[in-house]
Amino acid sequence: MKVLITGVDGYSGWPLALHLLARGHEVVGLDNFVTRRRVREVGSWSATPIPSFPRRQVAVREVLGKELVFHRGSLTDWEFVRNVLSTERPDAVVHLAEQRSAPYSMIDVHHAVTTQVENLTGTLHLLYGLRECCPGAHLVKMGTMGEYGTPNTDIPEGFFDVEFRGRKDHLPFPRQAGSWYHWSKVFDSGDVMFATRIWGLRATDVMQGVIYGVRTPEITDDRLLTRFDFDETWGTALNRFIAQAVLGLPLTPYGKGEQKRGFIALEDSMQSLTIALEHPPSPGEYRVFNQFDAAYSVNELAELTARVAREFGLNPTIDHPPDPRVEAEQHYYHPLHDHLLALGYHRTRELEEVVREIFHDLLRFRRRLQARRHVVLPTVQWRMPDSRPLLAARHPTAPAPPSENAPESPPAGSPTA
Ligand SMILES: NC(=O)c1ccc[n+]([C@@H]2O[C@H](COP(=O)([O-])OP(=O)(O)OC[C@H]3O[C@@H](n4cnc5c(N)ncnc54)[C@H](O)[C@@H]3O)[C@@H](O)[C@H]2O)c1
Repeated sequence: MKVLITGVDGYSGWPLALHLLARGHEVVGLDNFVTRRRVREVGSWSATPIPSFPRRQVAVREVLGKELVFHRGSLTDWEFVRNVLSTERPDAVVHLAEQRSAPYSMIDVHHAVTTQVENLTGTLHLLYGLRECCPGAHLVKMGTMGEYGTPNTDIPEGFFDVEFRGRKDHLPFPRQAGSWYHWSKVFDSGDVMFATRIWGLRATDVMQGVIYGVRTPEITDDRLLTRFDFDETWGTALNRFIAQAVLGLPLTPYGKGEQKRGFIALEDSMQSLTIALEHPPSPGEYRVFNQFDAAYSVNELAELTARVAREFGLNPTIDHPPDPRVEAEQHYYHPLHDHLLALGYHRTRELEEVVREIFHDLLRFRRRLQARRHVVLPTVQWRMPDSRPLLAARHPTAPAPPSENAPESPPAGSPTA
């Protein structure tokens, strides 16, 4: 099968390309390297050193003996998208090329607009490009479990049965995203679903949980490593905790730390995307996969990180800075995830062993973490600068917003730069 990966230079696009090539698929990638630029914009870099893309292609040739075809350009450029699709005519497109940081989208109006305009434009260009150049191709679109928010009910896979005033229907499950970034994914989902209905395209919308890990079986050489972000804007909570432990800083679950999310190992995420590709939906079908293995609270991640850190002679403490986000710090969380299991997916990696593996890698690259140790703690706030009057008017018993309570100085042991 010929697969086009948009965002092939990214954290998950790169190992997916390696995995599909190793399975004998033909892989074409595109990217505009904007994640590399935006990570630099916030003063950070990947803890793992990432070669330039041409060097990555050479490494693929030398290590895997495979060719990875590449097109440099942005999905926001319609002519570029149309050219790539009409030249390559892929059997499937895995769409990963979006601005994927919630904090980045919350920095200010410009970052919010950039996130939504780019993400929606890229998806619409792909949908129109598929319609024009290869309408039979299968679009695997990367959404996020964050589209659903944290409702006080179980979360189905995309759709659920509703009965209202005596009438029944099978409808999209309500979305309650928690950032401008997550809302861009919600709007994308609507657009993809609509395109399958009006044009008969086939699509899998993957509600992906948070991915963890830095290795897959194909990454047998440092030149094939994927990126590992650890700063407040681009790093996941788990990535930041492991980096903090390596740097001798306290681990910092925000607020009460009871926020729960679904997680999946990088290797298993590759497995499930491959299963989706190798079992395409029918023309006109829009299906949704909730892609995660287990839900963990932020406290559980911090405690597990601290436990594994001790095996490496590190002894991190755990602090709880105020939560910069507007989110429920304690809530019910029970999403379903049966669709991939029905197609043969099975979990192969446990969180603890992967965390151990990440420690091995990060300790090798400790100096790269040291050089950017000032980027780990949160600075981006979800709330208005002074939201107390607004909150008090809406909720007379609302507590003062954390931004008001934020300590003048960072927690003990925090970087001072
Ligand atoms: N990593 C996770 O834990 C996670 C969880 C849920 C959903 N997702 C989603 O999965 C997808 C991939 O995530 P990732 O972690 O690999 O992100 P990433 O930022 O590392 O990779 C995305 C790649 O796409 C490229 N890109 C972005 N916009 C582009 C554009 N307009 N044109 C061309 N290239 C562009 C970037 O340069 C980058 O190389 C994203 O859509 C993200 O929202 C990721």
